[in-house]
Amino acid sequence: MIHAVTEILTPDNKGIAKAASLLHQGSLVAFPTETVYGLGADAKNNIAVAKIFEAKGRPTFNPLIVHVQDTAAARHLVEFSDVAERLASAFWPGPLTLVLELRVNSGISPLVTAGLSTIAIRVPEHFLAQNLLQAFGNPIAAPSANPSGKISPTSASHVFSGLNGRIAAVLDAGNCDVGVESTIIGLNPTPTLLRPGGLPVEAIEECLGKKLAAHIDTSKPNAPGQLASHYATNASIRLNATDRREGEALLGFGLMDCDLNLSTSGDLVEAAANLFQYLHQLDTDQTKRIAVAPVPDHGLGRAINDRLRRAAAPKP
Ligand code: TXA
Ligand code: MG
Repeated sequence: MIHAVTEILTPDNKGIAKAASLLHQGSLVAFPTETVYGLGADAKNNIAVAKIFEAKGRPTFNPLIVHVQDTAAARHLVEFSDVAERLASAFWPGPLTLVLELRVNSGISPLVTAGLSTIAIRVPEHFLAQNLLQAFGNPIAAPSANPSGKISPTSASHVFSGLNGRIAAVLDAGNCDVGVESTIIGLNPTPTLLRPGGLPVEAIEECLGKKLAAHIDTSKPNAPGQLASHYATNASIRLNATDRREGEALLGFGLMDCDLNLSTSGDLVEAAANLFQYLHQLDTDQTKRIAVAPVPDHGLGRAINDRLRRAAAPKP
């Protein structure tokens, strides 16, 4: 679907009403969540969902996350186990996605689940995502609003530069607070980490009183965000850099001399919020390589390192 230009909508009642009406018409609207911007479509409208794959140039076997307003709305779509209840009441709304059994008459487009019997579902916290879900009144399917294989957008201008002309509109609410995608947990049969993300694994394990099983098999991705080179920049990436070499841009962490610093105070939450933004900024035509300083591998640092390893992986 070609749009002459993607409309930028203001984060007020007028913008929300316009976004909801575009969704009702089956058009694509990007909107902010607390993690990253999502590329939204009516999750019950096949054509609308198909447009997501078209706009992103995304391989069709990737299932999408569905966004709902609250746990009550989620109950219409999926079966809740006791563990799912516990996680939802502890962390929704927020940066947690649960993969649950889809109900038979949910009405969700099968393109959303890529034919699986399960669906990835979350309740976003961002006020604009909440207001849009309320105004629209139905589940919204939304992957991150970037062209497939590119880094995720944390501002409306990232969305615009990646997808201008390919989607109807973007609701602009500035930068996302969390800055990395939601943490994805599978529950069949045991709680399993499918993708590290904005909710620290430690918090989930504390809530459950046990360790999560790990699903890290890059050859058979259960969550295709796990594909080795999913979060690619155009420049190549050198990890754990302690110096800047010829022709490199250096992305720092903690007090150091560098081009951009994820967090001078060594704060992982701040670093996560800056990650995609700074990779976008450093990934210019002049830069052949981005060197990245070591980031501690705990809390949100795990999600950051996961994204960085993928961005650094050889391109297919
Ligand atoms: O923070 C986020 O999660 C953002 C915002 C917009 O909500 N969304 C996002 O969606 O990152 P996306 O489509 O880029 O990532 C969805 C991930 C994919 O890796 C997909 O494979 C996985 O969720 N997924 C979806 N359905 C699944 C299922 N039934 N089983 C396992 N993984 C699933
Ligand atoms: Mg994505």
